[in-house]
Amino acid sequence: MRHCITPSDFTLKELDDLFDLAADIEKNPEKYAHACDGKKIATLFYEPSTRTRLSFEAAMMNLGGKALGFAGASQSSAAKGESVADTIRVVSCFADIAAIRHNKEGAALVASQFSDIPVINAGDGGHEHPTQTLLDMMTIRQLKGRLSNFTIGICGDLKFGRTVHSLVKTMARYEGVHFVFISPPELKVPDYIIDLLDEKGYTYEECIKLEDVITKLDLLYMTRVQRERFFNEEDYIRLKDFYVLTEKLMRSAKKDMYVLHPLPRVNEISVEVDKDPRAAYFKQVQYGVYVRMALILTLLGIRVD
Ligand code: NCD
Repeated sequence: MRHCITPSDFTLKELDDLFDLAADIEKNPEKYAHACDGKKIATLFYEPSTRTRLSFEAAMMNLGGKALGFAGASQSSAAKGESVADTIRVVSCFADIAAIRHNKEGAALVASQFSDIPVINAGDGGHEHPTQTLLDMMTIRQLKGRLSNFTIGICGDLKFGRTVHSLVKTMARYEGVHFVFISPPELKVPDYIIDLLDEKGYTYEECIKLEDVITKLDLLYMTRVQRERFFNEEDYIRLKDFYVLTEKLMRSAKKDMYVLHPLPRVNEISVEVDKDPRAAYFKQVQYGVYVRMALILTLLGIRVD
């Protein structure tokens, strides 16, 4: 049985196949409308979510299946002290596949070890968020026509942002990607990610000011300061508005420098940027449904010819 706990659960060839499938789903949705008739996805969300949970549920419904689950740990037996291991064993009796989001790093991996059905990591604490990476990559591929030879700026909370960790680890598997990490010193990308880049000989730079580097970027990935992972509110308040991407800043960027953001946005992208044709963050949400449909089909081993 296959799970999706980290993007490295897939080879580059498998990732390519997944993106091809997602692109075909975008073009021919009716072909896939009954591929999962009679199947169910369980969405087990112990942490807040709008996009990710609804996107998984919409993906299964678009395939003809159904969705069940809970939104918030307080709505589940976790509030009574049940372990993730026991919950997933129970859920395995109700559903064919599960997507789990949890505040603890490693929770999805533990669930996969006790599950009788494929488990998808929909975010585990400040660690990883592989399906966000799949949709980020799909968006980049559709907009740029390639997944290699870029200078990508990643800006904001690089320490706690799980989408950043999964994205860097995945993009580093492609040729010629140069990373520009833009963050306040307190929110730098974790050492283990830097070590991984060093080990593999990838090029990267770290800096504090977005305006110093924006002109050279081919892509800019903005992120929210992850309030819920801070140890104290004062630090959050001091850092929360460190970056604001404005129309004025966008004027100094390349004409085809797309801006991505996993959302939710707080203040880090001014709403005036939304009308810029390079603002790709709402497109990402749409690609998220196609890629999750492709992932569900792949993990359930369903082929549509
Ligand atoms: C992200 C997450 O949950 O990590 N959101 C999402 O799934 N699109 C990013 C965030 O919350 O900042």
